[in-house]
Amino acid sequence: MNDLRVPGDKSVAHRFLILATIAEGESRLSGVPASLDVGSTIDCLRKLGAAVEDQGQGRFTVAGPSPWRSPAAPLDCGNSGTTARLLTGLIAGIGIEAELTGDSSLLLRPMDRIVYPLQAMGAKISYADRPDRLPLRLEGRASGGLRTLRYRPRVSSAQVRSALLLAALSGRTDLEILDRLRPRDHTERILRAMGAPVSSEVLESGERIRFRGASWDRGLRPIEAEVPGDLSSAAFLVVAGLLTNSQVTVRNVGANPTRTGFLRVLAEMGAQVDLAETGAQAGEPVGDLSVGASALRPFSVDDSLVPQLIDEIPALVVLASRVEGVSVIRGASELRVKESDRLALLVSNLRALGVECEELPDGLRVQGSSAPLSGVVRTGGDHRIAMAFGALGVAPGCTITVDNAECVDVSFPGFWDTLTEVASGQDMQ
Ligand code: S3P
Repeated sequence: MNDLRVPGDKSVAHRFLILATIAEGESRLSGVPASLDVGSTIDCLRKLGAAVEDQGQGRFTVAGPSPWRSPAAPLDCGNSGTTARLLTGLIAGIGIEAELTGDSSLLLRPMDRIVYPLQAMGAKISYADRPDRLPLRLEGRASGGLRTLRYRPRVSSAQVRSALLLAALSGRTDLEILDRLRPRDHTERILRAMGAPVSSEVLESGERIRFRGASWDRGLRPIEAEVPGDLSSAAFLVVAGLLTNSQVTVRNVGANPTRTGFLRVLAEMGAQVDLAETGAQAGEPVGDLSVGASALRPFSVDDSLVPQLIDEIPALVVLASRVEGVSVIRGASELRVKESDRLALLVSNLRALGVECEELPDGLRVQGSSAPLSGVVRTGGDHRIAMAFGALGVAPGCTITVDNAECVDVSFPGFWDTLTEVASGQDMQ
């Protein structure tokens, strides 16, 4: 039995920090993870003039509203798509000039998905080198401010929604988004907890998000909250537990239902999954998760569930490789534009280890078995590929080395030590 804690949720931490800079008053945050991605958001916010103060041990104060200024040098978003996309929305709404860039992986990721709708709102944005890719330049907005937008995103993405909400919020305009699927709704929940007029309605055709910014004359209340543990980080430890036949309990983990698709798949596979809610932090439910299993069945995932487990697919796929039978994932072509082309890397690495699997345009098919697996995994510097194969490496009969093991620091510094504790069945404090 393992009793664990994981670092704070990256998605929630980015949003707490960013939204705190536009609140009226001082926000007090705790549980902010030491992840490199969250560090990128903090650095960029400071360069934009925000007073984000590190009080030690994951505690931060943020004095809002920030006195914004155009940064002298390009803002480096590092490896973090959330930083780049959410800050583009925020800056577009504020209407100051800035250039955003990132590391070699981030420079490959698509940006039109936020740039087109932001331009339709009246933001002046251009690409410095190539279309659809960072670096991008924000050059203020149309005279008269941002315009109302009613938008149907081509891809259902929380980053797109959040970028548009941040632009509408700081540019004080109305926004309506009609989305086919339901990606993580952290921004909407936190905004409601801060007093913003944001509504979401589940429709037969998807979901409608509305923000009434033009007629809203109040400010956002500051946040006083602890960032819940990251369920996406916990997923790798849960998989390591299942692969070594031990029960894993993760305390104080985010229980937002738009993030728990992974747990639904585990339950369908035959695992005993219990997520007992213990409270909420700024609109985000929190709970204690416990997972165990004696035998598992293969699974099949289609596009309706993909947004709710998008980051957990690498963990599910390595688990599938040890579960007798064929598991299938479809509707997941977004995985090709994450920190790496995750579909291609999952398949090439599984094959190199000796697993039978097939890459599909929008997913993959894995034949699970208990045959011995061995070899070196090429992570492409992608933290979730590294952690997934790290978890697989603790399974009986697997001898796996992961290159670039330190890339896990993007989301989960300390991952390798925690994994060792899970594999040896010890409790972590
Ligand atoms: C994130 C949203 C997801 C996820 C990413 C973090 C966020 O991306 O893959 O790791 O914090 O908004 P999309 O919703 O854009 O697919």
